[in-house]
Amino acid sequence: MTDTTNGERKTVTITDNRDGKSWDFPILEGSTGPDVIDVRRLYADTGFFTFDPGFTSTGSCESRITFIDGEKGILMHRGYRIEDLAEHSDYLDVCYLLLNGELPGQGQKDKFVYDVTHHTMLHEQLINFYKGFRRDSHPMAIMVGIIGALSAFYHDSLDINDPRHRMVASYRLIAKMPTIAAMAYKYSIGQPFVYPQNNIGFAENFLHMMFATPCEPYDINPVLARAMDRILILHADHEQNASTSTVRIAGSSAANPFACIASGIASLWGPAHGGANEAVLNMLTEIGTKDRIPEFVKRAKDKSDPFRLMGFGHRVYKNYDPRAAVLKQSAHDVLEDLGVHDEPLLEVAMELERITLEDEYFIEKKLFPNVDFYSGIIFKALGIPTSMFTVLFAMARTVGWVAQWNEMIEDPKQKIGRPRQLYTGQTERRYKHLRERG
Ligand code: CMC
Repeated sequence: MTDTTNGERKTVTITDNRDGKSWDFPILEGSTGPDVIDVRRLYADTGFFTFDPGFTSTGSCESRITFIDGEKGILMHRGYRIEDLAEHSDYLDVCYLLLNGELPGQGQKDKFVYDVTHHTMLHEQLINFYKGFRRDSHPMAIMVGIIGALSAFYHDSLDINDPRHRMVASYRLIAKMPTIAAMAYKYSIGQPFVYPQNNIGFAENFLHMMFATPCEPYDINPVLARAMDRILILHADHEQNASTSTVRIAGSSAANPFACIASGIASLWGPAHGGANEAVLNMLTEIGTKDRIPEFVKRAKDKSDPFRLMGFGHRVYKNYDPRAAVLKQSAHDVLEDLGVHDEPLLEVAMELERITLEDEYFIEKKLFPNVDFYSGIIFKALGIPTSMFTVLFAMARTVGWVAQWNEMIEDPKQKIGRPRQLYTGQTERRYKHLRERG
């Protein structure tokens, strides 16, 4: 491929060395970040497809929501640095920003908070669904089921071509996710469901639904509520990751929003993605003490061992994940507030980080702690059980999924997502009858 400048129009020329034929493809420039080669006419003009398993070099859409500079470790939503949002905004501020493109003014914020808050309650009949699950179900299994089932209840927000339906569905998803998540937890421990309270903040309400019981009041610790809110901000969106791409692909067929978000939750569940936060805590617990770290680091470097250090590495970040940096500080703050000065898991985590940052293997492969590395320690300090960690990720990410889904529906270039393949299977052959098969 050669990059030529053709007057004002930048193009890349692809030449087929077999017959010397060549074609020009336009280079598209974003507002920042790498340019892309527009290959939309590639197949029609050349008969070739691109081959990119795992989409390591593929931009699947145009987006204005989130920007990541992986080399520098920068994450921005609508142009605002994640560190600033985590420091100065609250989660619903960030939700508004992701959905609408701007931080809200006071009047807009009040209305948004009111609108979202008044969708927190769940259709009472939906509660029957929980009883169909085993008590020991993983809460992510419950989330996939209940969120998908929302489409059977909220028929007035299923028309994806109606902006009002889309908005109501978006608010419902953001608002009901904490209620559904907390109910999954309550169900697993056999406690009565706690209904949402609309006169307290988003994070506070979640903690209340998780930990209050009808028997005694639950006092919300503002430091812990702020830590929870900050975690929600840090997980709110992350451009075209696996679960967001899943939501976009599901939505590209014009599936309803609840079905799309259920597909995102399913994709998030895996340990290479959102399931990593649960896996990190299990790993730190298994390591147990600092003296056992070298053994695990050795295993992570051994190509014949499938073990990986969970919470390390990222497809896009080749530098410290900026979210991990904020969470590391938050973990210290939370433990300090709780008067915990010698949390063994934090000690193991910090030592593991120190060792890997000095280790040739991790340096060479640019493997740094990611968002999932420190979040579990905070969740644990907040009293949240390990199996709920990925649920909290899903709860926070819902706004990102919803914002990206809305953006896709509104994009006039939107088409059904339908990748092709490099076929390496059998070519056509004569059908073999059973008697001939041996
Ligand atoms: N421990 C040890 N080696 C690793 C790790 C790790 N955590 N991550 C990547 N590597 C090695 C990998 O073996 C490969 O080596 P080589 O080039 O010799 O084959 C190289 O680094 C590149 O890895 P990759 O799997 O090709 O990279 P990827 O971009 O496809 O995968 C990842 C990214 C996040 C799936 C991977 O780093 C990983 O499995 N990390 C652990 C799970 C984790 O923490 N996931 C959370 C990601 S951040 C939040 C989210 O997305 O939810």
